[in-house]
Amino acid sequence: MPTKWTVEELTPGRTVEATFWPNDVEGSAFKLRATHLDGRRAPKVVLSNDDRIVPGVPCTVRILAVHKPERDDRGRIEVEWMGRAPFRIEGVYLDPVVSKKLQVLLEGGLNILLDGPQGCGKTVLARSIADSLGMEFVFFNCGAVVEASDFFVSIQVRASESGAPVTDFVKTDILLALERASDRPETKFLVFLDELNRCQESARNALMPALDSTRRVFHPIENTFIPIPDNVQFIAAVNRGREFTGTFSIDAAQLDRFAPLQMDYPPPTAELGILAKRHPSVPKGTLELVIAVADAIRRAGDLPGSLSVRATDEACVYLEHPLFADDGKRALPEVLKTSFCGRFPGRWDDLTTDAGAVWALVRKTLAEHKVPIPEEMISG
Ligand SMILES: Nc1ncnc2c1ncn2[C@@H]1O[C@H](COP(=O)(O)OP(=O)(O)OP(=O)(O)O)[C@@H](O)[C@H]1O
Ligand SMILES: [Mg+2]
Repeated sequence: MPTKWTVEELTPGRTVEATFWPNDVEGSAFKLRATHLDGRRAPKVVLSNDDRIVPGVPCTVRILAVHKPERDDRGRIEVEWMGRAPFRIEGVYLDPVVSKKLQVLLEGGLNILLDGPQGCGKTVLARSIADSLGMEFVFFNCGAVVEASDFFVSIQVRASESGAPVTDFVKTDILLALERASDRPETKFLVFLDELNRCQESARNALMPALDSTRRVFHPIENTFIPIPDNVQFIAAVNRGREFTGTFSIDAAQLDRFAPLQMDYPPPTAELGILAKRHPSVPKGTLELVIAVADAIRRAGDLPGSLSVRATDEACVYLEHPLFADDGKRALPEVLKTSFCGRFPGRWDDLTTDAGAVWALVRKTLAEHKVPIPEEMISG
């Protein structure tokens, strides 16, 4: 597909998708501007005064007129609002109901809490929301946060020329983003707080004013409170797997400042699509077996933790490699022993451990699908 539209293609009446932003060109009669239509660069600036267009929210528009089509350096494409654009998050499987809720929360600018087992796609989802909606993505892992100020500055000690220790305050990506966001109101920022459940409770409390209607935070370098501009949206992720019960310590008041969204592993057909795209050389039948075993492990209620899409993806990395690919399905038990059993405590050949229980599930599921397991692998 050509990267840029030609003027001839953009005939009045044509319907296209666009995301508009406030038009800050001085003296312009138009409130809103866009530069891309259906993801392709437009040959002229796209302008509208249609009040139904919400800045930053993708919509479909109808072309009303192309002014000065003969000039490369001037003119404009004028459009009117047709409707909201279909909501699409590229590259991530999302349950259709979760997808609808997500769309509402994003449009409402609410703080969102993605809650789901390990490796179900929380981090990739946050990243692709930013990509799909043209937001600037700010990733912040909360796991290392101990003090409230750690969200905004990190303290680094270095030796001065005389050898005496000097303390530097280095702004975190969150603080840099908050500063940039006030300078650039036309850009939307998505601040992703990964593993929010892992940081110290007291530190998390410092975020509260940022997350409620107060929307301000203490700037530890300037020693003052700074406002959080409206173009900043927060999404946090927590991992509430069984093995994390002890560490899921977010209190009710903190939870209440987020709109929770429950996520789960993609269903087998969707996981097949994800893996087939990434590992096209692995036969479909083999991928289906990997997923069937993973599904059996995820359904087993008494294991600590669960099996992420990282694990099925890793199994495919082995299976597509010539060292294993040549062995066909015979390689499968060996690969699953490593990629699946290896993620659980204990040993695969010790049935009293979780790894042993997983190995039993691998064998049972493969047997149900008539995949032979070499004799020497049946037990240790
Ligand atoms: N729903 C999904 N759609 C597409 N890819 C997925 C999905 N779920 C997981 N994956 C893939 O699995 C891997 C792990 O995903 P990701 O890191 O987003 O999980 P997570 O939920 O953030 O896990 P954790 O709780 O461990 O942080 C990535 O390679 C990702 O591409
Ligand atoms: Mg993650």
